[in-house]
Amino acid sequence: MKKITIAIDGYSSTGKSTVAKQLADYLGYLYVDSGAMYRAVTFYAMQNDIISKGYFNVEKLIESLPLINLKFVKNDDWNKAHIYLNGNDIEKKIRNLEVSEFVSPIATIHEVRVKLVAQQQQMGFEKGVVMDGRDIGTVVFPKAELKIFMNASAQERAQRRYKELLERGEAINFNDVLKNIEERDHIDTTRQDSPLVKATDAIEIDNSEMNLEDQFHTVLQLAKDRIAGRV
Ligand code: CDP
Repeated sequence: MKKITIAIDGYSSTGKSTVAKQLADYLGYLYVDSGAMYRAVTFYAMQNDIISKGYFNVEKLIESLPLINLKFVKNDDWNKAHIYLNGNDIEKKIRNLEVSEFVSPIATIHEVRVKLVAQQQQMGFEKGVVMDGRDIGTVVFPKAELKIFMNASAQERAQRRYKELLERGEAINFNDVLKNIEERDHIDTTRQDSPLVKATDAIEIDNSEMNLEDQFHTVLQLAKDRIAGRV
């Protein structure tokens, strides 16, 4: 069967990665969480005195990029591939609010994007890939056969992320989560390099009122149509 490239972009906590993973599993495609790569670079920067509250050494970050090696590793016991930074599994260390606070400034840096986009394009070279992020349909795979742009109200997205973090045992408060989402929305949509914007040929889905099953079936139908060449 023909393999296609599926790009899923959208705002933070819109459920992009959930639907992308479901779709990849169903189709037997590779799933790539591009946000995990930006989070991993951020984690490196936090560990190496490159970024902290009120401090960001951009020059040092750029110089350090050749020392940052990222890889996704699969294991039958895991539901999804884990991200490795220089040989260490950091999957569980990158989803907290602290990394979320610094990730959008890190993702504005052109040299960071050039490095990560090249690796993402390499991973999707043979098609049969579902990748989610902010610039997948616009920059990474502008020729993707299916592009989805996901949205939901900021309040709804913050509720979802708050619940997710609580379930993971993080001590957080709702207003901090909402503030982080709004700040990241602002930085991600206004940055100069590859801002978050809906590709002209992307299909927009607002899932504020949709459950996971409806969302999956909507996207799956679109994928099936593209694979069959119906649209
Ligand atoms: O899971 P969530 O939607 O909160 O974010 P994520 O997908 O893990 O992405 C974290 C951050 O990485 C975003 O807020 C962007 O600043 C950046 N990012 C990006 O610039 N380009 C991408 N393709 C993916 C993420």
